[in-house]
Amino acid sequence: MSPVRRRVGHTRSVNGDKRLAALAAAVMLEDGMRVGLGTGSTVRELLPAIAERGLSLRCVATSLRTEEEARRLGLQIESFESLDRLDIAIDGADQIAPDGWLVKGGGGAHTREKIVAAAAERFVVIAAADKLVDRLAPPVPLELLRFGAAATLRSLGEARLRDVPPSPDGNLIVDYLGPVDDPAGLAALLDAKPGVVGHGLFPPQLVSEILVGRDGKVERLALR
Ligand code: 5RP
Repeated sequence: MSPVRRRVGHTRSVNGDKRLAALAAAVMLEDGMRVGLGTGSTVRELLPAIAERGLSLRCVATSLRTEEEARRLGLQIESFESLDRLDIAIDGADQIAPDGWLVKGGGGAHTREKIVAAAAERFVVIAAADKLVDRLAPPVPLELLRFGAAATLRSLGEARLRDVPPSPDGNLIVDYLGPVDDPAGLAALLDAKPGVVGHGLFPPQLVSEILVGRDGKVERLALR
């Protein structure tokens, strides 16, 4: 088989596995739930699966992309200023380590995604198996306040401004390129840094369940 055909076949199976994980998450929803919707291509598979269930849900979206698509499918999206808790949040991930640490923010939505995940009773991660890694690796996405951005960037050392529009909250999206060998230590360092509004390291304590699509099946990794 030619390398191009092999790549197309691989992409097709990864997309199928994303869809399977998304379908497995959609059936967890019940009428009346308050639901946080993540961002990305796996969540794009989730939205029609939720809409098809025809449940009465109150949803919040972690990005404008998700909000627009969800509304187009008839889902009720609310502002996340008035809802003070969610029953469940469902989102993708860029890297999933064996101990449950995640890297998120490939789509630059990690700050809102973490707020939504933290507000939810259950945070469910959906992904194809290509997101499973032996150990986390850079880049770790960051969101930086514009005020003092050059100084914050300098203090981070190995970091690069991402060439994307600002976050919906007007902040800069940056990729941290230093080592990620100690995710808890790095998360604490980033949390303590003035000017860093958010980072894409999500601790296992935040995660309830990980649904992984692999070779046409869904594996459930229960974490708490
Ligand atoms: C966006 C995210 C996404 O959840 C992450 O990038 C995974 O995306 P995809 O489902 O497209 O692989 O964190 O900020």
